[in-house]
Amino acid sequence: MKRISIAIDGPAAAGKSTVAKIVAEKLSYIYIDTGAMYRALTYKAISKGACLESEGELMEILSATEIELLPGESGQIVLLDGQDVSTEIRMEQVTNSVSFVARHEAVRKEMVKRQQRFAEKGGVVMDGRDIGTHVLPDAEVKVFLLASVEKRAQRRHTENIQKGFPSNLDTLMEDIARRDKIDSEREVAPLKKASGAIEIDTTLLSIQQVVDKIMGLTLERI
Ligand code: C5P
Repeated sequence: MKRISIAIDGPAAAGKSTVAKIVAEKLSYIYIDTGAMYRALTYKAISKGACLESEGELMEILSATEIELLPGESGQIVLLDGQDVSTEIRMEQVTNSVSFVARHEAVRKEMVKRQQRFAEKGGVVMDGRDIGTHVLPDAEVKVFLLASVEKRAQRRHTENIQKGFPSNLDTLMEDIARRDKIDSEREVAPLKKASGAIEIDTTLLSIQQVVDKIMGLTLERI
């Protein structure tokens, strides 16, 4: 069977990583969460007190940074210079700053190069904002996942409560909408549906239904 590339893009908290992980597991493919790479850089830059507006400072940090993504029991493990930062990169401060880091052209160019290297051998499910448009434009399956802001905030809220994290639905809705705006309006590789991508609105769908749709598209192509 052919080992293809599956690109999953969409706005914040649309459920991309949840379904990407399940699809990758079903196919025994590798799963690459590209958002985690931007988050890892953001975390390191904040820790070093860098100016997130300065492309030069960010590039200096990135050029001396190793980011590894490994499969773990409960999701992807993110190693930053060999240290597990899987939890730290989900902190509110990182979430609210990452879109500013991801706006810089040189940062994106380097990240895209690293992401393409991860996908070199095929058999990959990659999620992000520019996978179908820039990182893997020749991906055999391209999906654009959507859901209303209300639904996405509600899902994140439920997830936070289950994990015992403090959570406020209104704040989540504002944060998600703000991040979508920056990601969609930036000059370099903005969030948008790739040509040939299949749009799936997950507002009224279960995780299983979304997985089934993507598996259906995939099985047609392998
Ligand atoms: O997917 P996640 O929400 O973790 O991504 C965090 C942020 O990283 C996004 O809001 C976006 O600013 C940036 N990102 C990006 N391009 C990608 C993946 C993520 O710009 N391919």
